[in-house]
Amino acid sequence: MIRKYISALSILLVSLALTTSYSFAQADYALIPYPKSLEPGKGEFYITKQTVISSASQERFSSEIQQLNQLLAQSLKSDLKVLRTTHQTNVIDIVYDPDIKSTGEYRLKITPSKVTIVSGSNSGVFYAIETIRQLLPVSVEEGNTASKLSLPALMISDEPDYSWRGMHLDVSRHFFSIAYLRTFIDRMALYKMNKLHLHLTDDQGWRIEIKKYPKLTENGAWRTFDKNDTACMKRAADNPDFAIDKEHIIQRNGKTLYGGFYTQQQMKDLVKYAAQKHVDIIPEIDMPGHMMAAINSYPFLTCNGENSWGELFTKPICPCNETTFDFAENVFTEIMDIFPSEYIHIGGDEVDRSDWAKSDACKALMQKEGIKDIAGLESYFINRMEKFFNSKGRKLIGWDEVLEGGISPTANIMYWRTWVPDAPAKAARNGNHVIMTPGSPLYFDYPADKNSIYNVYHFNPIPAGLTPEQAKLIIGAQANVWSENIPSEKRADYMTMPRMTALAEMLWTNNKEDYASYQKRLVMQFPRMDALNINYRLPDLEGIIDSKVFVDNDHLNVISPLKTLTVRYTTDGSLPQATSPILNNLLVSHTETVKVAAFTPRGKRGDVYSIKYEQQSLAKPATPDKTAPGLKVDYYKGFFKGTTKIPAGKSDSTYNAVSIDVPKSVNAPTFGLKYRGYIDILEPGIYTFYLTCDDGGILKVADRMTVDNDGLHSAIEKTGQVALDKGLQPFALDFIEGGGGFTLKLKYSFNGSEPKDIPASWFRN
Ligand code: ACM
Repeated sequence: MIRKYISALSILLVSLALTTSYSFAQADYALIPYPKSLEPGKGEFYITKQTVISSASQERFSSEIQQLNQLLAQSLKSDLKVLRTTHQTNVIDIVYDPDIKSTGEYRLKITPSKVTIVSGSNSGVFYAIETIRQLLPVSVEEGNTASKLSLPALMISDEPDYSWRGMHLDVSRHFFSIAYLRTFIDRMALYKMNKLHLHLTDDQGWRIEIKKYPKLTENGAWRTFDKNDTACMKRAADNPDFAIDKEHIIQRNGKTLYGGFYTQQQMKDLVKYAAQKHVDIIPEIDMPGHMMAAINSYPFLTCNGENSWGELFTKPICPCNETTFDFAENVFTEIMDIFPSEYIHIGGDEVDRSDWAKSDACKALMQKEGIKDIAGLESYFINRMEKFFNSKGRKLIGWDEVLEGGISPTANIMYWRTWVPDAPAKAARNGNHVIMTPGSPLYFDYPADKNSIYNVYHFNPIPAGLTPEQAKLIIGAQANVWSENIPSEKRADYMTMPRMTALAEMLWTNNKEDYASYQKRLVMQFPRMDALNINYRLPDLEGIIDSKVFVDNDHLNVISPLKTLTVRYTTDGSLPQATSPILNNLLVSHTETVKVAAFTPRGKRGDVYSIKYEQQSLAKPATPDKTAPGLKVDYYKGFFKGTTKIPAGKSDSTYNAVSIDVPKSVNAPTFGLKYRGYIDILEPGIYTFYLTCDDGGILKVADRMTVDNDGLHSAIEKTGQVALDKGLQPFALDFIEGGGGFTLKLKYSFNGSEPKDIPASWFRN
């Protein structure tokens, strides 16, 4: 077998190979996405300076050949000769086969004497090269000199499942340099992703030069620090990745400003660079909402000249004035000149339409065009802009809100609102193409936890209930990266990687049974990510409890998810460093906080976990006279920023519950709940509770704060313990939903058991 080759792949791969059988399983190749079909061969092919690249279709594939040469030259330190005629041996032959019709499809055959790439498309050849790249030793990425590079003999036949394999990046809320965008594109290409959606404009900054409206960037690209910046600066105290990138801070007229923009020439160059990597850049100019940065300089864009925040979003531009269309068409004309992409994104999300109803121009337009409601005004705007896009040979994409007032079947819908689950099916039934980007699990700005990668990998882009014909209209999926809380390149790396690799495989190979294999291959990718200086998120430490309790003492052990990681700790409040002591059965015998983190052999630190220890005695039970089954629940309609804001007074309704979930009758868009009663503890000891909520929740057992998961946030799990004596213990759970869909789950464990649901019989009130 080809052990020698494996050793070149990575140290980790060796250890895996030695502990698994001799037969080749998927996980023996560190390939992500895994090819549709791979048959191992015998032996290996050595690339040396004498190897030649041959192709009878040299001109057609000149860009790909050049990129293959660049890749190999990182280690060989010289380009391979490129010939038109095929040698018999020591050759990488690139063959054009017009019968391979599907875009991106390729075949790759490696034998000890020859490598053959066959494809009918440039992207197919490019993807074969990216596959070769992942088969090459990691040292190539580091530019280490080698006289010989080995590839394993094998046969691959491969093509993607979905044509839209996208990543989005919000460059408005925080700005990212052209150099970073190039890196981002390289990374996408490595994992065979092909659409980069740039969110170029928003309330917080306009990032692309528009020559006809220079103030869009002269003024609109710069702002004083906003509340997100301030929040990031605060978090930087604990995590330097939250420090605002200094490169994007300037002094102007005595003021400190944050921002930046891309010139048209810079973007044109980036588009060309991306095209070589078979990545299309899709520009988004978000309108009619999210336009504050533009309206600041061009107030004629609104219906009433006002430029302010409404209840949730900023006031939009006015779809009822011709001057708005002149502006929009002029802007998009320049955008189309920069970006040759088939698709142009117009946004259309989160529009506060309330002012439109008050405008005389809108009243007149509604009457003239027979528009029934203000959602119809947005449709009027989007449909008119779509005609304009189509007249220039482009296709329009809008966020799923554009469906609300009716939309033409030729528009492309980008689905994001997890809490409107029927939107993608509705769009497909209307004949629209749909790109799936649901907030859960595809908003990569949401904090990652131990389930994030699993959830991305197991996401099915095809919604239930579609016919096979309608299912074909789902053209793929994309992860969105909103940057309010991502002020630096390192933080953007951390939020996107390695989640993007799960997305890449889900969209290319889409074989959910292979998750275990994917996990092994992901571990093999880490050395490559290290070599590429990617600030990826390390796997989660297992079995961490946020708040721990002991009666006499406890011994803290944390299991590292990878053998290669070392777990270190501190108890003095400082962040663990690569020099901090190694955690091994740490004795805790007084109330204190232990901070733990995993470190890679290179000293890269993973997430820091703070484990709060508290010494407790077993809480004595309550002795109520009489109890009934279940918990009493009070339901309060309203918007509450935290559970402490739920009023103490009378609720809107009250009901009885035997489990911790939210019944269907609770249907206000925002609300608060208070569960009250007792939990019947059968055995004394330390109980662990796992509270997952979106938005916030607080659990008190025996009047002791047990889990604090408060605030407005996406679904996250927090854990806590409490020491309880046998008997009825007071139970209080407060929960808030702040809009956009909710989750509420509570589990418990005792004596190291797996987390379980609390039996209904335990609840009393
Ligand atoms: C969005 O997240 N507002 C599309």
